[in-house]
Amino acid sequence: MLNKTRLVARYTAGERMNHWFVAMTFILLALSGLALFHPFFFFLTNLFGGGPWTRILHPFIGVVMFVSFLSLVVKFWSNNFITRADLEWQKHLGEILANTATDLPEVGKYNIGQKYLFWALVVIIPTLVLTGFVIWRPYFAAFFPIPVIRVAVLVHSVAAFIAISAIIVHIYAAIWTSGSIRAMTRGTVSAAWAKHHHAAWYKKVTEENKL
Ligand code: HEM
Repeated sequence: MLNKTRLVARYTAGERMNHWFVAMTFILLALSGLALFHPFFFFLTNLFGGGPWTRILHPFIGVVMFVSFLSLVVKFWSNNFITRADLEWQKHLGEILANTATDLPEVGKYNIGQKYLFWALVVIIPTLVLTGFVIWRPYFAAFFPIPVIRVAVLVHSVAAFIAISAIIVHIYAAIWTSGSIRAMTRGTVSAAWAKHHHAAWYKKVTEENKL
């Protein structure tokens, strides 16, 4: 919907609350996970009430994050299918980053980079949860042989490294693409931002609303 100041609605309040809940729980998991990963990060346990509390809370926060992440995935699923236009757009990435691109295919609600992030998270977050259950003492680890637990610890750490790296890129891209943050804070973007970054989505929402 467009209003007098030429703003376009991009996220509902529910979508934004869901996103920031996932983001907050993700940060808590990254901080508590790093604290458990290496003594260098042990000082981070102070944020969670000490070592034992960090160890107790981390997996429970993981379950809460997973459930809220699933809800986010359902909400964003249909806008993240990769199209031929996305693949064509991707070929011009160098020019896009240098801001010299012309005649690009029009981008829908998300560009291909955002879609890659989405699908990467769809694979990595369940991997973290599944391996997390395998290594979760005292409740579940007893059901698995020790070699399986060892592999699960390794996969859990690698998956966490990938997830944290992907989210750092996500945050950087959100800040770097000026005008994006307000989409997730206020729910709206400027019409100019929408036309420039997501022209096909802009046309769709303005046509649907006859604006
Ligand atoms: C804490 C710092 C974070 C910031 C500043 C941030 C910022 C944003 C912004 C501005 C958007 C809207 C982009 C647009 O509409 O084009 C967005 C979308 C999104 N965010 Fe975040 N985010 C953060 C953390 C996270 C985390 C931790 C996750 C998941 C684990 C996440 C998952 C998503 C997803 C799935 C989208 C939809 C776009 C897509 O499919 O890639 N975000 N975020």
